[in-house]
Amino acid sequence: MLLLPIVRIGLTQSMSPNILLAWESKHGSTADISHLLARRLRERGIQVTLFDTAKGDKPAGAFDAYILGSAVYRDRWMPHIMQLAHSMRPALLSKPVWLFSSGPLGHHPTPDDSPADIADMFWCTAAREHKIFGGRLKAHNLSLMERANVSVTGKPYGDYRDHGDIIAWGDSIAGALCGSVLGT
Ligand SMILES: Cc1cc2nc3c(=O)[nH]c(=O)nc-3n(C[C@H](O)[C@H](O)[C@H](O)COP(=O)(O)O)c2cc1C
Repeated sequence: MLLLPIVRIGLTQSMSPNILLAWESKHGSTADISHLLARRLRERGIQVTLFDTAKGDKPAGAFDAYILGSAVYRDRWMPHIMQLAHSMRPALLSKPVWLFSSGPLGHHPTPDDSPADIADMFWCTAAREHKIFGGRLKAHNLSLMERANVSVTGKPYGDYRDHGDIIAWGDSIAGALCGSVLGT
């Protein structure tokens, strides 16, 4: 009886799923989200390999599932994480994948905040979900060009990340991956 949910989510090797959480961040707030998610997933008994795409070429190893996330700039995901998704497309299509974007400022994220290339990311991954988290904008992090863009577009400074929402999303992924196996 227990085998049915395992087959449904594609887990074949262990009772403790091993997932890759890969992200790209320019000013650190998406990295923070990734670390918070990883901590939550580990608390729920999931093995998490963290991979900062700006620092590495390609993650080694086989994984039961994947989470890919990116900061959004000018309506786009960042280049290294998109490159990774394209290069790993066969592996990603064979396992459960979740996507997240971090960006919207000053309002609760809505589907209208989806970046322009999210359809491409779904093509690479057949992801189960794309979650959008609020972003953070700190003046002292930004280059002159970025400040000019912020000023022209009227983006508000501040931290719009919702930690409760991030943790709840981690819980929902943990539930999908192993709730039926671990009884959580
Ligand atoms: C120049 C600039 C352009 C941005 N463009 C977008 C955008 O198109 N859509 C969006 O949701 N957020 C946009 N943002 C907000 C960032 O995505 C947000 O600050 C995010 O938290 C940055 O993540 P990071 O700290 O991981 O780099 C922009 C920010 C800057 C500075």
